[in-house]
Parts: sequence; structure tokens; C-alpha cells
Amino acid sequence: MGGWPILCCADLWEEPVSLDVVILAAGKGTRMKSDLPKVLHPLMGKPLVLYSVEMAQAVSERPPVLVVGHAADDVKQTVGEAARYVLQEEQLGTGHAVAQAQEALQGSGDHVIVIYGDMPLLRADSLRSLYQMQQANQAGPITMLTLIADTPRGFGRIVRAEGGSVQAIVEEADATLEQLAISEVNPGVYCFEAAWLWSHLDKIPVSPKGEYYLTDLVGLAVDEGATVNAITIEDPNDALGINTRVHLAEAEAVMRQRINEAHMLAGVTIVDPAATYIHPGVEIGRDTVIQPNTHLWGQTAVGAACVLGPDTTIIDSTIGDRCEIRYSVVEGATVEDACDIGPFGFSYLGDADIGEGTNIGAGTITCNYDGVRKHKTVTGKNVFIGSDTMLVAPVTLGDGAATGAGAVVTKDVPPDTVVVGVPARILRRTEKEHPG
Ligand code: UD1
Ligand code: CA
Repeated sequence: MGGWPILCCADLWEEPVSLDVVILAAGKGTRMKSDLPKVLHPLMGKPLVLYSVEMAQAVSERPPVLVVGHAADDVKQTVGEAARYVLQEEQLGTGHAVAQAQEALQGSGDHVIVIYGDMPLLRADSLRSLYQMQQANQAGPITMLTLIADTPRGFGRIVRAEGGSVQAIVEEADATLEQLAISEVNPGVYCFEAAWLWSHLDKIPVSPKGEYYLTDLVGLAVDEGATVNAITIEDPNDALGINTRVHLAEAEAVMRQRINEAHMLAGVTIVDPAATYIHPGVEIGRDTVIQPNTHLWGQTAVGAACVLGPDTTIIDSTIGDRCEIRYSVVEGATVEDACDIGPFGFSYLGDADIGEGTNIGAGTITCNYDGVRKHKTVTGKNVFIGSDTMLVAPVTLGDGAATGAGAVVTKDVPPDTVVVGVPARILRRTEKEHPG
């Protein structure tokens, strides 16, 4: 085996590429034992299929063709206009699935990459390398990824010739004992020369199980005297396919680690990466410290030099620089620089704009939901919210306002005003002092 180099990266696409991506996502995912279609199960908060769509977008400007079947309408609704769709009414195998895209793509591009909708850890760089190698391949119509697996179970095995070239992919069910011992396997990711692909799909023989295997194209190409190239994936985790919820948790752990490592290398301290849950796309400034059991979800951006956690969840929020947020839940909120939220209690801040230098005492809650609609809480600069304050939204507190411990604030508080009690009433006007 040659040990193909993994090529890299950013400047590969100076010329517009003539490439289409087909994503196979028609299968039922029976082993998930779920009413939700497999490819819509969330990984780090995002449906699996969207990872494949984003991978496709990273390598081709054209929307990928998504082959849908099981729960097609739900999948379409989730992916929306990011993809083109073809329907595979009966799941007659991976070769049959790709054939459904022929009408949409024939005559479109020079190359076609095929990936699955349930392989979220694959890297766009691997697809770029695949495409580049196939483009350079004068001797054959297929370049594929391969993988050296500790436990090859379930995968098709790669059969190589003496000289190292790929001869065939043998499905596990059809493999001899000798072939079962092969540790190089097929993750199911290929780049085809488009014209060859479209003229050979109908040459795939039907299997004893009544299916059409895409993998048989390798044997067909070799029979024609062509060379099938392969690139071996360096990180076996890339090829983790999700078939069960056990696989889903494994993939989540790998992705969590990848995301946390990227933040650490960019200057964020993560005290316990195994207990820190950061969704893809979250931004964090340097010198921010994240304490254990902290969750940063959705569309969240955190500034520099903050301390977050322990035991804190921040969802769809923007946090300024130098904020300290402990033992709290913050959702849909904007928190300006140098605010303290918590600690030693439990706070919930939903749909809030928190002004610079504001201190939110332990146990503060924004009562943002009246059972029908959500309402906003706004505080000015340097506001002091005493412990256990209920802010009944919609409500606004002016600059320098303060609330006493246990206040239930139902009306707006003017600037530099202290309110106390249930419901909160004005105690006094003030410039600097704060009630404890
Ligand atoms: C396939 C490969 C096998 C490889 C493995 C990697 C074939 C014949 N075998 O096997 O060599 O090691 O993937 O995971 O290709 N799908 C459809 N329509 C179909 C059938 C499948 O859309 O009619 C989709 C599924 O939703 C799934 C993907 O294709 O996302 C793979 O299908 P699956 O049945 O899991 O293939 P394997 O038998 O695992
Ligand atoms: Ca599979």
C-alpha cells in the first residue's frame, strides 16, 4: 500500500470547480430505534445531515443533491434550499441511490463526489484531496477514501493487487475468511469521473439480496483495465458512521474534543475538556476561562477574559469582555462588558440585554414568559440586582438602578433609583451607593 499523502488545503480552489456532490440519506436508520429519521438526530445540537451538507458546500459551489427516501418531507424541511432533492422511493442499495441523481446531474459537472448523510466527522479537506487526486488521475474513473480499522466489522473490505492498486471492494456478507481479515476498509466516500459514472451505473449487477451496490463499480473499472486510486484517511474517527445511538454518543465525544482543542489552541483555558460542551460555531475570546460543567450552545459569542462556570449554560447569547458568569442559565441575552452574574445560587436570564458593569445577584430570574409570549428585560450600565430578584418582563432598569434582595420588579425602574419589596417600590434615589 502506497500511503497516499493527504493533500492540503485552502488554495486548491482558485479555479471554479466542476464538481457535484451527492449525499445518500434515503435509508431508514432502523437501528436508531427512533421515530425521528436517523439523519435528523442532533449531534452537538445540529441535525446529522447538515454536517454532510456543509461539507459539500465547502468543496462545491453548487448545492449538493440529497437522495431522500425515508421521511423525505421532514429531511427536506430541515435542509431547505441548501440542497437539491431526488427521491429514492425504494431503498435498493447505494448504487441504486446514486442512480436517482443521474437525471439531475448528467451533463452538469466533470466530477461527482458521493458521501453519506450519517458521517458527520468527515473533513472537507479529505474531499478536496479526493477531488484533486481524481482530477489528476488519467488512468481511471474512481478515487476513493480508505480507512485502516481496528475492528473492520460491518465495513466492505478493500482488496488490493500485488502492486498495491485497488482491485475490488468486497461486502462483508460476501467476503471469504481471508478477506474478512483485511483491516483496510471502505468508508463509502468516492470521487467519480462523471461521464463514466453515469454510463456505468446500469451495469451494476443485482446482488443476491436484490440490491445494487455502488461498490461494484470498482470491480467494473478494474475489469476495463482502469486504475482505481485510494487515499487512506489518517484519523479513523473521520469515518465514524452513525447507525446506533451508541455511535451518536461516540461521535459527540470526538466532536466535543475537536471543538474544545481548537478553542484551547486559540487561547481559551478549558479546565476540564471532558465536562465542557461547546457547540460548533460558538466564538470565544482569548484568555477566557471555562470551568467544568459549562455548556455554550447555539449562536453564542463570548468575549475575552471572561470566567464562565462552573455549572453554567449559555444559549444563543452574546457576552462581552471580562464578564464572570457562574451557576447560571443565560438564554437569548446580550451581556455587555464587565458584568457579574451569579454565583452561589442559580440565576436564569432569558431574553435580556444586560448593560456594562452590571452585577446580577445570585438567584435572579428574568420572568420572560407569560405563558403565551416572551418578553424582554433591559438593564442600563452599572445596575445592581440584589439576590433573588424577580424581573417580570417586559421591564427596563435605568443606569445605576438597584434592587434589594428578594425584590419582585414589575414596573420600569428609573436611573439611579433603588427599589425594594414585593411588588418593588422606590426606596430612594441614589448616585453611587448600593444596597447589599
Ligand atoms: C456501505 C458500503 C460498504 C461500506 C459502508 C460504510 C455498499 C454496497 N457498501 O455499506 O462497503 O463499508 O457503507 O458505511 O455501498 N442508502 C440510501 N439508499 C439505499 C441504501 C443506502 O440512501 O438504497 C444510504 C443510507 O441511508 C446510508 C448510506 O447510504 O446513509 C449507507 O447505506 P448502508 O445500508 O448503511 O450501507 P452499508 O451496508 O453499511
Ligand atoms: Ca452503514
